[in-house]
Amino acid sequence: MYVLGIETSCDETAAAVVEDGSSVLSNVVSSQVELHRKWGGIVPEIASRAHMENIMPVLHEAISGSGKRLSDIGAVAVTMGPGLIGALLVGVSAAKALAYSARIPLVGVNHIEGHMGAALLESPDISMPFVMLVVSGGHTHLYYVRGFRDYEKLGQTRDDAAGEAYDKVAKLMGLPYPGGPVIDGLAGEYAGRAPVKGGPKFPRAYLEAGSLDFSFSGLKTAALTYVRANEMKDETVGLVCREFQEAVVEVLVKKSVQAVKSRDAGTLVVAGGVASNSALRSALLGASRENNFRLVIPGPAFCTDNAAMVAASGYHLFKLGATAGLDLNPQANLPMEKMKAMQEMA
Ligand code: KG4
Ligand code: ZN
Repeated sequence: MYVLGIETSCDETAAAVVEDGSSVLSNVVSSQVELHRKWGGIVPEIASRAHMENIMPVLHEAISGSGKRLSDIGAVAVTMGPGLIGALLVGVSAAKALAYSARIPLVGVNHIEGHMGAALLESPDISMPFVMLVVSGGHTHLYYVRGFRDYEKLGQTRDDAAGEAYDKVAKLMGLPYPGGPVIDGLAGEYAGRAPVKGGPKFPRAYLEAGSLDFSFSGLKTAALTYVRANEMKDETVGLVCREFQEAVVEVLVKKSVQAVKSRDAGTLVVAGGVASNSALRSALLGASRENNFRLVIPGPAFCTDNAAMVAASGYHLFKLGATAGLDLNPQANLPMEKMKAMQEMA
């Protein structure tokens, strides 16, 4: 079965055709990064307008690039939230129009469910339940996934999301948006260097004993204080990136391992844009070997926002009968735990 996925929750206009939730026939991502760069972050109004301009060409390219016709598509899956409301509205409206005109079933997908779909896309044999770490520009959450639409939140950030902290720390050093990949690259360059006297040393926030919540605001403030107090030569920037990244990765890995142990889970799934971080990937791999659990992280291209992941999740949801009516509305705030109730109401 071919599912057309549509994703417009943030700053990527994306459409993809995926066969049986695992084989990607086309995957088109039109990034708005250049449009937002000069503002140092995403401007919601600019994002909505760009989605309006991009959605039709992106849909055409995804369908024609798949080698299939609209009449071959078995379901349209679209991100319905959480995200920027004006941006979501463009994708949801396009999906509804397609579903109505071509008489295809419609599936509403939570954006985090979408990120989870990226893991299923590449490893369809993952057995549930599993623990999932979602690390993106908007989320740093740990979930216990018993099944589709059966999600229990184990912990979440109390302030900034990990990706947001990356982007903000990069911005204060004058590095381009989005800062995550830039800091990742610079941290890697400086990884092997010996410690420097007076070099940056930032806190790791573990919060109360046993807590699976996160906090990155103290780390961000420590970085800000250091950047203000020191001359930012290339080397100093590199060292800040290295220390910042080590602090983020250390906490993410320890809390993920703690979550896996707390549920005696056999598998950890990691999803979201920050899951493409090279240091996080290798630290998690080490932790999975040491603690004997299976680690599933999608390839870097499927970690950041795309529509193949939405189509993959949409396929599984369709199989479970989770279709939506044409009254489907996007929701800016849509917690994963709410998906079960929504499903039961439908
Ligand atoms: O999942 P995503 O594409 O969009 C959201 O749903 O938020 O995640 C984007 C976030 C941005 O904050 C970006 O800086 C971060 O993921 N990111 C990274 C890396 N690549 C993207 N953070 C750290 N290291 C990376 N390599
Ligand atoms: Zn995302």
